Amino acid sequence: MSIKKISLEKYIEYSNYEGSQHIAKEHSIFRILQVIKKEKAKNVLEIGLGIGTIYSAVREFSKEIKYFGTENNDFCLKSLEKNLSDSYNSLIIYESIEDVHFKDKIDVVIVDGKDRYFDYVKESISNNGVIIIEGYRQDQLVEIRKLFPESIDVHVITLSKNDGSGFFDSNHYQGGVKIIYVKPIFRQRINWFKQKVSTKYKYIIRTLRS
Ligand SMILES: C[S@@+](CC[C@H](N)C(=O)[O-])C[C@H]1O[C@@H](n2cnc3c(N)ncnc32)[C@H](O)[C@@H]1O
Repeated sequence: MSIKKISLEKYIEYSNYEGSQHIAKEHSIFRILQVIKKEKAKNVLEIGLGIGTIYSAVREFSKEIKYFGTENNDFCLKSLEKNLSDSYNSLIIYESIEDVHFKDKIDVVIVDGKDRYFDYVKESISNNGVIIIEGYRQDQLVEIRKLFPESIDVHVITLSKNDGSGFFDSNHYQGGVKIIYVKPIFRQRINWFKQKVSTKYKYIIRTLRS
């Protein structure tokens, strides 16, 4: 299945579950899968598993990826077990990043929640790893920039509105993500540049439409 199709299907599926007001939007899921695919990620960490939307999409994309996640909310922990059925068994859940013991470095870190031990990501991420922030989370971006002084980042948006069958208002644009290349190599710099130009263009179109 294409990553576009997975993103839409998972967004709609998880929109029907209890607690769906906090799920990742279709565009965010798509961008996360796109980064995972481009980076050929083998190890992924998600901070804030919530009710499992992003994990479920990643698992649909690949059964091989090793997926670690943090969650400490009781409702979410119960929802993960209920919503994920079989794929729950290949998810490694910790209460906080400080409890995580990685054998290999993490290629992609997804930030969709808070963790007071976030600094630990610095030791755990691979040299040219990528961090993706779901939504705005400006305070967390500031923290990440301090932690990775060589990093470059870009806010990626879309011109598509929320699908009418999902939880969020179909009159609103789908949310964006921030992509942070912690120590960019040439290929990542090229992607970053393309995304910067594309975001500028999309903001102009949105302004003209409004
Ligand atoms: C934005 S949510 C994470 C959503 C998740 N990545 C997903 O797509 O399903 C961030 C945090 O909010 C908390 N949270 C999410 N859903 C919740 C709910 N329905 N009730 C209480 N807390 C919730 C959890 O602790 C979670 O880590």
